[in-house]
Amino acid sequence: MSLSRVAALVLFSLFSLNAGAQITYQDLKPLFQDHCLMCHSGPGAPLGLSLDSYQGLMDGSSRGAVVKSGQPGESELLHRLRGESQPRMPLTGPPWVPEEDIARVARWIEAGAPEGNSTGAAAAEPAPAGLAPLAERSGESFEHVAPILLQRCAKCHSDNGIMGRPPEGLRLSSWEQVVGTGERAAVVPGVPRASELWRRVTGIARPRMPFDGPPYLDDAQIALLERWIAAGAPGPDGRKAPMPTGAEVRLHGRLTGRWSLDGLPLDVSGARIRKNPRVGDYVEVRGHVGRDGSIRVERLRPR
Ligand code: HEC
Ligand code: HEC
Repeated sequence: MSLSRVAALVLFSLFSLNAGAQITYQDLKPLFQDHCLMCHSGPGAPLGLSLDSYQGLMDGSSRGAVVKSGQPGESELLHRLRGESQPRMPLTGPPWVPEEDIARVARWIEAGAPEGNSTGAAAAEPAPAGLAPLAERSGESFEHVAPILLQRCAKCHSDNGIMGRPPEGLRLSSWEQVVGTGERAAVVPGVPRASELWRRVTGIARPRMPFDGPPYLDDAQIALLERWIAAGAPGPDGRKAPMPTGAEVRLHGRLTGRWSLDGLPLDVSGARIRKNPRVGDYVEVRGHVGRDGSIRVERLRPR
């Protein structure tokens, strides 16, 4: 190598180091990856805001730009990170993004929001698992279901949600919460029809979810949730959810027989059946989950 090439290389390295002192989008990428992409990527990104590329971030949301170059105080991105606009981001918080990282985002916007060198190592990182388009995914593990619940449900069904307390005490931002029994069991592993979560997304139970729909979930998403529940609602490690034996359930739907709810057999021995409901009626069923996932009805009445 000639001396002049060595000198050029040294100069180039110095230049790169110097450029590294300025914060660019490439430096912030890992932050978005860790805290934001589980929701803000793919076709279901909330408000159309994709944070998985510089272009997506600069394009902003359906409400407009979220970064106003040179004006951190006018940038919704920063308002959300600091909790100056609600709901604070990440929606799954607390925990929030550390103060020093938020300060880096502010300095980046101040400096004109430069993109930086996108051929760096960070740019070559593959997208996190679970973000491939639905059609390309196979199986029905929680990682396939989570993006749907995070993108479409957690904005209300979480402690940081837009409705204050999560409606009906139902939290949907982690597996433990989805298969847990807050006030009631919303999922009965192995039995989609006994799972009010499935009933609400199909619309056989009202009001249909997501509450702010339409758009509701599409057929592929509903089918995926059904298969996941039917497979025992497995968690991130692939193990089936424990049966919430004895947990309370409240189901809505149509009586399709004496006694079945949209085809789900009901054990009504010992139930209080009020106002003489008839087959075809829309009813509310309250009861408990049996050891085998059956529903032991306590009260049944037309709604
Ligand atoms: C669990 C899903 C989830 C996560 C994680 C999440 N968001 Fe959001 N984000 C949402 C939802 C849902 C909305 C729409 C809420 C609303 O109606 O205002 C939103 C809205 C926003 C908005 C407002 C856009 C506008 O134009 O008003 C910004 C900015 C934003 N998110 C940035 C982030 C950042 C940055 C992160 C990571 C630090 C993040 N979000 C993590 C779900 C999420
Ligand atoms: C805009 C806010 C909002 C969103 C988004 C939303 N929900 Fe809800 N959810 C509600 C409200 C409000 C209720 C109570 C409605 C009622 O039953 O009168 C509710 C009730 C429920 C219930 C009944 C709980 C029970 O114990 O009776 C289930 C199950 C449910 N939601 C699931 C979902 C799922 C799954 C999603 C996403 C696909 C979703 N929700 C999205 C607001 C929301």
